[in-house]
Amino acid sequence: MGAFGAYQNEIYQGGLEEVRPELPTDLTRLESLAEQRMPGEAFGYVAGSAGSEATARANRAAFERWRIVPRMLRDVSTTDLSTTVLGTAMPAPVALAPIGVLGIVHPDGESAVARAAGSFGLPMVVSTAASTSLEEIAVAGGDAPRWFQLYWPKDPDLALSFLQRAAAAGYQALVLTVDTYTMGWRPRDLDNAFLPFLRAVGNQNYFSDPVFQGLVGGPIGEDNRLAAILHWAATFGNPSLTWDDLGFLRDNWRGPIALKGILHPDDARRAADAGMDGVIVSNHGGRQVDGAVAALDALPAIAEAVGDRLELLFDSGVRTGADVVKALALGARTVLLGRPYAYGLGLGGEAGVRHVLRCVLAELELTLALSGVTRPAELGPELLVAA
Ligand code: FNR
Repeated sequence: MGAFGAYQNEIYQGGLEEVRPELPTDLTRLESLAEQRMPGEAFGYVAGSAGSEATARANRAAFERWRIVPRMLRDVSTTDLSTTVLGTAMPAPVALAPIGVLGIVHPDGESAVARAAGSFGLPMVVSTAASTSLEEIAVAGGDAPRWFQLYWPKDPDLALSFLQRAAAAGYQALVLTVDTYTMGWRPRDLDNAFLPFLRAVGNQNYFSDPVFQGLVGGPIGEDNRLAAILHWAATFGNPSLTWDDLGFLRDNWRGPIALKGILHPDDARRAADAGMDGVIVSNHGGRQVDGAVAALDALPAIAEAVGDRLELLFDSGVRTGADVVKALALGARTVLLGRPYAYGLGLGGEAGVRHVLRCVLAELELTLALSGVTRPAELGPELLVAA
């Protein structure tokens, strides 16, 4: 057995000295604990989805409709979870999804997440909407791999500046999120009248940017903060983008590029035609379109359409190691873990994120081995049956 499963032994050994884990090891229980302990506005921002939240429920229900059929007597004494995705070597097929505004969740925000991810060498996808500049997060993550997630602003000079800063700070791959040129209708935030960006949290990549500063009269301080927030609101989303614009990214980003938020096989084909390296099958955790298809339900047809032309990444609804196994079996090369690590951050800072990552990795390793699989590449749909 591999190194990740050792967390199980460590926890049981702690029990001999009456030490128990501070946070649940069943990560589906984190949300209700976070609801009890996190400030209401911050919890609502993380937990909330669009409209009646049917998409978020569908994401979880889709996982429930697949069952693993474990296979026996296959020598699983050695397991190896490592893989390479978008040119990045990773110790396991788990990356940290871009989650903006983490400063509302914990004062250490993105830097704590970067340190926790970095301690395992897992890639963190850093959001354009981070509450810490991409340069500071890069320092916190040290040698660990990092990818930059772009929200393509209206101002092309600002878009170019983001790409140049990310390259200079050592970000290896680019993730363009295509499903969020404006925020979905999110009743939890609406009922709280809470949008962190209007309180100057989540705009730090903009405020620290030389092009952005040039447009609002220099470094952001008391005198121009309101102007900066208004300019952020004016430039944040770019609803005019089309497939033809992707050439700009190819011309101005040297590493691999993946489109995040793809749910239709034809869009995946167009991504391949446009020279993209991957797509992230995702519905943004249900935060954008209420009543949308579950991301896991969209995955098999996309794998069928472009599995040989693009690397497929997946997020939306991943909560446990078994969920990772199911997404990989249906065609994903890696998953992105989202809300669970944000709850870990809210409940326990950097240590909370580390706990969440260790639980996912341990459970993934154990579930694979107990299913008769030693490497992610061996996974295919034959391991699953419809429930
Ligand atoms: C997100 N997500 C997101 N995606 C993105 O491309 N850029 C971003 O800044 C954010 N910000 C963000 C904030 C919060 C609070 C959440 C919960 C999510 C979406 C994220 O990358 C991922 O697609 C979802 O989190 C996946 O759904 P689950 O598995 O977390 O439910």
